[in-house]
Amino acid sequence: MKCKVDSRCPNLREAVEKLLDAMNGTRDCCAIIRHMITEQTQPSAFDLIGGSAKLRELVDRFYDLMDLEPEFSVIRALHPTPLDGSRDKLYWFLSGWTGGPDLYTDRFGHPRLRARHLPYTIASAERDQWLRCMALAMQDVDIEETLQERLMQSFYQTADWMRNKQG
Ligand code: HEM
Repeated sequence: MKCKVDSRCPNLREAVEKLLDAMNGTRDCCAIIRHMITEQTQPSAFDLIGGSAKLRELVDRFYDLMDLEPEFSVIRALHPTPLDGSRDKLYWFLSGWTGGPDLYTDRFGHPRLRARHLPYTIASAERDQWLRCMALAMQDVDIEETLQERLMQSFYQTADWMRNKQG
C-alpha cells in the first residue's frame, strides 16, 4: 500500500522538529527538511527558478561572467581570487532570499548585507555592473522571462541599497 504524506500534518511536523533538534539544526539537510515541512501552497521564487541545482547554476554563471567579461572588471577587482567562497556565500544567501532553505542564516546569522558591503566602494557604476552581470546570467541559464523581470526588480532594490558612495 502506498503511504500518503501530508506535510501539513501536525504530528509529522512535531516529529520533524524533534528530529531537527536532535540533529542540532545546523546542516544543509536540516534547512532543506525544515523548508519542505513549512513550505506554503504558493510556489516561491526558489521553486519557480527550479530549486537548488538551478540556483547554483545561476550563481556559477554570474561569477563566471564576472571573471571572464571585461565589462565587469571593476566589480571583479573587488572580489577575491579564487571566487569559490563568493560563489558559496551568494548561493547560500539567494537560497533563503528567494524563499528556499535559509542556508546563509543557518551558518552566519542575520546577513547584515549592507554592513558586510561597507568595506567595498559601491557607487552607481558598481551597482549597474552587478545588475547587468546578473541579468546576463539569468538569460544564459534560461530563467523564464517574467521571473527574470520579477527577480531583477528585487535585485535592483537590494543592489541600490548597497551603495555607499555618491556617483
Ligand atoms: C551592488 C553591487 C554589489 C557589489 C559591488 C558587491 C560586491 C561584493 C563583494 C566584493 C563581496 C565580498 C566577496 C567575498 O567575501 O567573497 C560581496 C559579498 C556578498 N554579496 Fe555582494 N555586491 C553587490 C551586490 C550584492 C547583491 C545585490 C547581493 C544580494 C542580492 C549581494 C550578496 C552578497 C553576499 C551574500 C555576500 C557574502 C557576504 C559575506 O558573508 O561576507 N551582493 N559582495
